[in-house]
Amino acid sequence: MHIVQVSLGERSYPIKVGGGLMPRLGAECAALKLGQRCAVITDANVGRHFAKAALKSLSASGFEPVLITVPAGEKSKRLAIVEKCHDQLAAHRLERKSFIVALGGGVVGDLAGFVAATYLRGIPFVQVPTTLLAQVDSSVGGKTGVNLKAGKNLIGAFYQPRLVLCDLDALKKLPKREYISGLAEVIKYGVIYDAILFAQLERNLPKLLQRDEATLMAVIAHCCEIKAEVVGQDETESGLRAILNFGHTIGHAIENSSGYGKFLHGEAIAIGQVAAAKLSHELLGLPSGELERIKKLFVRAGLPVKIRLDTARRKKLFAAMKLDKKVNAGEIKFVLAQKIGKVIWNQRVAENLIGRALDTP
Ligand SMILES: NC(=O)c1ccc[n+]([C@@H]2O[C@H](COP(=O)([O-])OP(=O)(O)OC[C@H]3O[C@@H](n4cnc5c(N)ncnc54)[C@H](O)[C@@H]3O)[C@@H](O)[C@H]2O)c1
Ligand SMILES: [Zn+2]
Repeated sequence: MHIVQVSLGERSYPIKVGGGLMPRLGAECAALKLGQRCAVITDANVGRHFAKAALKSLSASGFEPVLITVPAGEKSKRLAIVEKCHDQLAAHRLERKSFIVALGGGVVGDLAGFVAATYLRGIPFVQVPTTLLAQVDSSVGGKTGVNLKAGKNLIGAFYQPRLVLCDLDALKKLPKREYISGLAEVIKYGVIYDAILFAQLERNLPKLLQRDEATLMAVIAHCCEIKAEVVGQDETESGLRAILNFGHTIGHAIENSSGYGKFLHGEAIAIGQVAAAKLSHELLGLPSGELERIKKLFVRAGLPVKIRLDTARRKKLFAAMKLDKKVNAGEIKFVLAQKIGKVIWNQRVAENLIGRALDTP
């Protein structure tokens, strides 16, 4: 097992990465000295595979868990579901010392984290991420929240978990498309922060695609270390944390303007990262050899790197980009790479250049 520490003063917590961790959930929670009553929030897919093991482990450690299952998918990230969860917590008489276990992907983590942040003005919660994306990204760093009709993640809170438990066994059940989508965030860490990680990914991609446990453990722990380091320096995104949005300005707009579900998040940000790398080449002199390496790694992983847009869809995409909550006073800001492993944020980019980056192969 690998342990990565997120250092945020009294809100610090460990991320534990390894195989066979689910049966240890109860013992891990017991070590946190939390109240007896707790709730496991999961979605229907994840619950089918893992709820029994999670509940069994919690009960064996003397906890009294209640299971709350929400429908799978992004649609569960909304206030009506938050209220349903709150009602069930109240019915089960959860109190200040009680805690929530978020068992699932990023949807469940964001939802359950927000439920924990708001019930009784905040009760402890533990993340048990079950998708690759959630293990390397969404379960770490304390961003929780739900969507509004007007846009994604518009309601939320910074609220840190007490523990993150990444059980590599969970990934064995993850559908291939979801797994590959998570690889887009993994590659992102190499591009934005660590040229050595990027080169390792180039070498070890075949093993990663086979979900080899030793490779996964090293890679996931490495990604979590990077996220922990970034979040430790800038918890609430007043600066540095923005680098985690590399490829996301265009990626979010692709997700938004094509209707949620057509592109998975990782697929959209793969296209976004390659477009951002092209802009980086033009505006910051990212060497063309490095641009090619970035593109090639996404292609080898099985991720899309371009999108075909007719005039109407292009218009929708730019409208979506301007609605992104990271836009200030109508200006679209980008994270751009100077070289692999080094990016700068807050870069203004003209619209016509963005269009060209999406068009060129
Ligand atoms: N809080 C953050 O910092 C942050 C960062 C990135 C993304 N996010 C959010 O994360 C969400 C996306 O997360 P996601 O990609 O994990 O999606 P998800 O939670 O919807 O999971 C994807 C699908 O896989 C299923 N699933 C999950 N684990 C499984 C397993 N082990 N075996 C079989 N099926 C499994 C789920 O039921 C779902 O159908 C978005 O809402 C996004 O906004 C949050
Ligand atoms: Zn992302």
